[in-house]
Amino acid sequence: MNKFRGQTAAVLRPRSTEEVSAIMRYCHERKLAVTPQGGNTGLVGGSVPLHDELILSTSLMNQVYGIDAVARTLTCQAGCVLETLNAALAEHDLMMPLDLGAKGSCQIGGNISSNAGGLRFLRYGSLHGSVLGLKAVLPNGDVIDTMKGLRKDNTGYDLKQLFIGSEGTLGIITEVLMGVVQKPSAVNVAFLACPGYDQVQQTLVAAQKGLGEILSAFEFLDHEGMRCVNETVDVPNPFDSTAPFYVLVETHGSNSEHDYAKLEAFLENAMETGCVVDGVVAQDATQAAALWQVRERITEGLQHDGVVYKYDISLPVQHLYSLVEAMRPRVADLATRCVGFGHLGDGNLHLNITSPTASEELFAQIEPFVYEFTREHRGSISAEHGLGLMKARHIHYSQPAANVTLMRQLKGLLDPHGLLNPYKTVEENPLNV
Ligand code: FAD
Ligand code: MLT
Ligand code: ZN
Repeated sequence: MNKFRGQTAAVLRPRSTEEVSAIMRYCHERKLAVTPQGGNTGLVGGSVPLHDELILSTSLMNQVYGIDAVARTLTCQAGCVLETLNAALAEHDLMMPLDLGAKGSCQIGGNISSNAGGLRFLRYGSLHGSVLGLKAVLPNGDVIDTMKGLRKDNTGYDLKQLFIGSEGTLGIITEVLMGVVQKPSAVNVAFLACPGYDQVQQTLVAAQKGLGEILSAFEFLDHEGMRCVNETVDVPNPFDSTAPFYVLVETHGSNSEHDYAKLEAFLENAMETGCVVDGVVAQDATQAAALWQVRERITEGLQHDGVVYKYDISLPVQHLYSLVEAMRPRVADLATRCVGFGHLGDGNLHLNITSPTASEELFAQIEPFVYEFTREHRGSISAEHGLGLMKARHIHYSQPAANVTLMRQLKGLLDPHGLLNPYKTVEENPLNV
């Protein structure tokens, strides 16, 4: 996002849990701060060292230990790239339960540390459910081991949950045991044009009813998002004319005839009721991938404008787009674009405002309005990207004071010297960035 600039004296690249533990013990004794770094694709500055933090990179921790096709589990080191894990699982007709546009670079340790949601969340759920075990090295070098891999284990507190979504502030994840899912033998992708946001919502309800258990993604973008990928990354609009909203619907199933029939019935109904004014269904995997490009390449496209003011908001679906509508007149000519897209099926809006260079005048129109709107509608200021550096000082918009106090107490207990990923997430005195 051209926003966060890091500096460090050294990058350490351990190969094992034991090496990470030795590094942390050394740093703990000498009070050296450490920033864990995976694929460095995070969008809130979490993996950026700010002052003199050492970078601990997991990039050499990329071994797959095993795939159990009966238990449907995968055991690996934290530095494995998401796409590489999917390639290994495909040989067993299995796949990872999460998918995201950064799959070619992001690592499973980074995904778990940021509790990434992504494009399949609607169907396969949160990492809080699909991570079955992990090893994490605490700031003092101790190793927490929850790698038994049992799906059911109620012996005391579920410690692995502490590290899922804690953005490298409580421990360094070194090994992972994932619950994985069946690779679908029948996949359909439809790209639809809708005349208004009401119709987008009705299409979601119709998809949930008509497609039921095979619905695997329900993503949306607005006309500004479409224009962005058309203009900046040369991804064409699948339709000849433009529409206010576009929806990508995907199904994952095991019976292509049955799934296709369901999709056709859903589409017929959506077009008859006027919720959908145009639609295209991919006829093969190449066409499906081309349709996904429209959605997945928005992030990259936005960067071409220069500076991106990026917000990742959870809101009740009925209020979700009103934030974009309220923002547009505020930023008006100060912005190059004001784009709304995201994981509609999860109530997750990505609001992005771009401009050629950083502008205080523009920024003043966006913040704190965006956070106040979110609080008023009982939303979350971080649906899936985390707080990192960017939003640490805004945590109170989405968490009551007592919750923040407990989070800081936990941080103090595990990391009394504040050595692991300082200035971020639940930091008491975060930087004003
Ligand atoms: P990094 O960026 O390296 O680190 C992320 C955070 O985790 C940092 O705070 C870091 O300190 C910490 N960390 C990293 N590894 C470890 C470890 N082993 N132990 C402890 N802490 C660690 N996110 C979504 O939720 N959904 C999306 O759909 C999505 N799509 C994206 C699309 C694109 C094109 C891009 C660029 C990003 C997208 N993201 C999305 C952001 C997402 O959070 C990251 O892509 C990914 O989960 C981070 O993984 P990483 O390995 O790059 O982690
Ligand atoms: C996405 O859903 O594409 C990602 O979360 C990336 C983004 O918000 O830019
Ligand atoms: Zn997203």
